[in-house]
Amino acid sequence: MGFAMKISVIGAGNVGGTAAMRIAQERLGDVVLVDIAEGLAKGKAADINDAGNVLGYDCRVEGSGDISAVNGSDIVVFTAGLARKPGMTREDLLNKNAAILKEACLKIKDAAPGAVLIIVTNPLDLMTALALRLTGFSRGRVFGMGMTLDASRFANILSEMAGAPVSSIGACVIGSHGEGMIPLPRFTTVNGKPLSASMDADAVEEAVRRTVGRGQEIVSYFGNGSAYIAPSAAICDLVKAVAMDSRRIRGVSFMLEGEYGLRGMCIGVPCRIGRSGVQEVIELELDAAESGKLRASAEGLKKLFSALCAV
Ligand code: NAI
Ligand code: 2OP
Repeated sequence: MGFAMKISVIGAGNVGGTAAMRIAQERLGDVVLVDIAEGLAKGKAADINDAGNVLGYDCRVEGSGDISAVNGSDIVVFTAGLARKPGMTREDLLNKNAAILKEACLKIKDAAPGAVLIIVTNPLDLMTALALRLTGFSRGRVFGMGMTLDASRFANILSEMAGAPVSSIGACVIGSHGEGMIPLPRFTTVNGKPLSASMDADAVEEAVRRTVGRGQEIVSYFGNGSAYIAPSAAICDLVKAVAMDSRRIRGVSFMLEGEYGLRGMCIGVPCRIGRSGVQEVIELELDAAESGKLRASAEGLKKLFSALCAV
């Protein structure tokens, strides 16, 4: 049985393969899984389809080694690329992933000109800005998944530390998906009450520190590769917001054009997400320290982006 929505996931590795599985399980549409390693894409697609009878979903997943399979997609999720390996600098990674993204974007813009494009590959904010530039899509249709994951991590860490159910926590994180991440305790609640009612300032500071380091913590546990279970859940949540036109507010990396007094860079801020992509940027009333951190994070990204574009 075919579904109306066509969702393509580029990169069938840990993040892309698991995201495709979650999207099928949530019955959000038919999925095309693309990877340069064709067998990996076809194998994961077959494996996900084999679970449909047990789990009761009819969405079909097709695996392909050819990016033109994204033709006519409504949503494209980009997870392809390399992870940092020993001996490789951050800059090497940036340039290699930028080259992979560039080749893909040139195809996506012709093959899926009406798609909403969700970037996942790191370094996230720079890759999102690059994808926006390369596709020439309107800014609402290109955004990056990073803050949704970071907020969920912050919520989990707070839940453990405060002894509160994770579902009772409303966590807010802005900034870049990396060292420039800014968890915002003032905008975070436990059972609808300010975080300060459940935790003292030192504990909150510790939770913030642990959240910023969470991705690295998981890399050190794995020893090879990075997190993919929570990242794929965050991707699925964003795909669902677009597919179902939910208009939910989620933190995503988005090109600012004057919001928060910033312009010309993609950075994580809360946005309303619906069928057309980002429909509205939500401007929090940041205090001077919070907005100073956001500005510094954006300025750092802008410098790296100029250097990337000059290559
Ligand atoms: P992985 O190594 O398991 O998968 C990457 C896949 O990309 C591989 O299967 C590889 O064959 C494929 N690939 C490489 N070049 C390609 C090309 N030209 N066309 C199509 N496919 C290609 O890595 P994993 O764990 O899935 O991570 C993927 C990316 O997502 C990494 O850049 C990682 O840092 C990032 N990431 C971002 C997160 C976020 O919150 N934004 C969270 C987790 C991961
Ligand atoms: C993470 O935060 C690597 O961006 C990835 O786990």
